[in-house]
Amino acid sequence: MLGLGTLSRVARELREDLGAARQRDPAARRVRSMEVLLTYPGVHALLAHRVAHGLFDLHVPIAPRAVAYLSRALTGVEIHPAARIGRALLIDHGGGVVIGETAEIGDQVTLYQGVTLGGTGFARGKRHPTVEDEVVIGSGAKLLGPIHVGRAAKVGANSVVIHDVPAHSTVVGNPGRPVRVGGRRPEGPDADWAHLPDPVADAIRALSARVAELEGALEEATGRKVEPGGQVTPLRRSGGSDPAAG
Ligand SMILES: CC(C)(COP(=O)(O)OP(=O)(O)OC[C@H]1O[C@@H](n2cnc3c(N)ncnc32)[C@H](O)[C@@H]1OP(=O)(O)O)[C@@H](O)C(=O)NCCC(=O)NCCS
Repeated sequence: MLGLGTLSRVARELREDLGAARQRDPAARRVRSMEVLLTYPGVHALLAHRVAHGLFDLHVPIAPRAVAYLSRALTGVEIHPAARIGRALLIDHGGGVVIGETAEIGDQVTLYQGVTLGGTGFARGKRHPTVEDEVVIGSGAKLLGPIHVGRAAKVGANSVVIHDVPAHSTVVGNPGRPVRVGGRRPEGPDADWAHLPDPVADAIRALSARVAELEGALEEATGRKVEPGGQVTPLRRSGGSDPAAG
């Protein structure tokens, strides 16, 4: 039987889930809670998950997966009924989000469309990410394996993250690398993970220089101008702001 305590907990959760959309989606600021409740697929997916997870905890057969399946069909968001989700999650826009069985999500977390909290293989046991409170994960980001994403970290859109993410840091790229920790660029000889040396690019750059040198020598020896067959463009910036640059 549903007790008064359960009802008031559900009412509080509902208020917080609707509040999350109104506070963190700028497009929802002037939208009434009822409109959010009726028209936000991310909210529908979350509410369906709360039901599916409750049934899962009660060991009800089939129903949890059936609810999750229906929710996926309606919202495009797939959440395994066993996944643990904290308070006031916002799944903005919904579509394409996948949250795996052993994923754990803290409070006040924001996920944009296309986020995957997935496993890396066929291993059993804990194999999905744990995401702490107040984390923001950008659209299309894939977080794979039993990694830990620290409190208030930000994961850039389309990043692929396979290692732990420090609290209060910003991680971008593939593979995801911290470009900010506590609001500042990582410092020190080993800490600038966004600008690691790239030996392949270095080798190609050295070869390009040798070819240019040989072309110069050939022009000098023959007096004939060597026409380059094609433009050699730099592979990457040799420093600076491109996080993929070396
Ligand atoms: C990562 C993000 C959260 C910004 O965090 P931030 O801490 O404010 O970081 P900054 O904007 O200062 O960017 C830090 C660095 O990462 C780079 N960067 C930011 N986002 C990036 C991304 N998604 N991919 C690759 N690099 C990125 C910036 O160019 C900057 O590089 P620099 O240090 O060499 O100048 C944000 O860029 C992002 O991706 N948000 C997701 C938003 C989203 O999905 N919106 C969908 C709405 S529908």
